Amino acid sequence: MKQDRPWTIGKCLAWTAEYFTGKRLENPRLEAEILLGKVLGKSRVQLYINLEQPLQPLELARYREKIKQRVMGTPAAYLIGEKEFMSLPFEVNRQVLIPRPDTEVLVETALEYLGHTQVGPREQRENRALVSGDQAPLIVDVGTGSGNIAIVLARYLPQARILGLDISDRALEIARRNARRHGVEEQVTFYEGDLLAPLENTPYKGQVDLLTANLPYIPSNELPHLMREVLQEPLSALDGGRDGLQYYRRMIPQSLEYLKPGGALIIEIGFDQRKAALKLFNDQWENVQVKLDYGGRERVIYARATGGTNNDFV
Ligand SMILES: C[S@@+](CC[C@H](N)C(=O)[O-])C[C@H]1O[C@@H](n2cnc3c(N)ncnc32)[C@H](O)[C@@H]1O
Repeated sequence: MKQDRPWTIGKCLAWTAEYFTGKRLENPRLEAEILLGKVLGKSRVQLYINLEQPLQPLELARYREKIKQRVMGTPAAYLIGEKEFMSLPFEVNRQVLIPRPDTEVLVETALEYLGHTQVGPREQRENRALVSGDQAPLIVDVGTGSGNIAIVLARYLPQARILGLDISDRALEIARRNARRHGVEEQVTFYEGDLLAPLENTPYKGQVDLLTANLPYIPSNELPHLMREVLQEPLSALDGGRDGLQYYRRMIPQSLEYLKPGGALIIEIGFDQRKAALKLFNDQWENVQVKLDYGGRERVIYARATGGTNNDFV
C-alpha cells in the first residue's frame, strides 16, 4: 500500500477489494467498507458520499493494521467489535461466538410460536419492537453467548420475561452490555452455569413457556478442519463433543423439568445432525419438527412438551 498521491476513501476501498479478492475472502468489497467505516467512524453510505476524502496518516495506519489482521484470519466482526443479528447491532469480542444469520431462523420460529407473524423477510424488518399480544411469556435461552437470541426476543416481545444462561462469565459480560445497549436490561436477566443448573433452586420449574438453545454442536474431530476464521472463536462455543450432541443429550431431558406442559423447546443443530438429534426426543415430546435455514439446510428443531392444550402454530 505505497504510493505518492494521497489515499482517498475511494482509492483505499478499490485497493483493498482487489487485495482481499487475491486473498480469497468471500465478500472483499463489503469487508473493505466495514473495516474502513470503523476506522473513520463512517457508515457505508457516508463512505460513498466522501469517496474523494483523503485519509490522515493515523487513519491510514489504523486501516492498514486492520487489513493485515483480516488477511491473517481475524474475522471482520472481531476487528470492528460488532455484528448485526436480526437487524440489530451486537457487541462481540473473542469471548463470544459471532452471531450467524442461520440462527435467525431459530428466533423467527420462536416468534411464530409466541404468536408473531409479522417477522417477515429480512429486508422488510424494521429496527423496532413489534407490539406484543396479551401474553407475558417466560423464556429461557441456554448458551446465550452475546445475548443475541434473548435480546432480540425481548425487543419483539416487550412483555416477556427472559433468562439468558451461559457457562462463560466473560460471555455474559458482553451479553449484559448488549442488553443495556438495546434497552432491555430490566427484561433480560443473565445467569452463569452449566446448562439449566442456574435455575435449579428457583421457582421456575414447570413455569417456562419457551426454551431456546444454540449450544456448541460441532463434533470434536471436525474442529481442526474448520475455516481459520471460525477457529478464532471460543472453543467452548463450538465443541459439541464426540458426535456434536453432548450438550443437547443432557439438556433435552432436563428441559422437561422446566417447561410448562405444552411448552416449546427450539434448538439449533448442525446441517447433518437431524437424524441423530431427533432420537433425543422421546414420547414426552410431541409435534417435533425440523426447520430449514436460509440455505435450505435442516437447522432448527421445534418440539412441544406433552400435556399442553394449545393448538400448534403449524
Ligand atoms: C454456539 S454458541 C451460541 C451463542 C449465541 N446463543 C448465538 O446463537 O450466537 C454456544 C454458547 O454456549 C455456551 N456454553 C457452552 N457450554 C455450555 C454449558 N455447559 N452450559 C451453558 N452454556 C454453555 C458457550 O459459552 C457459548 O456462549
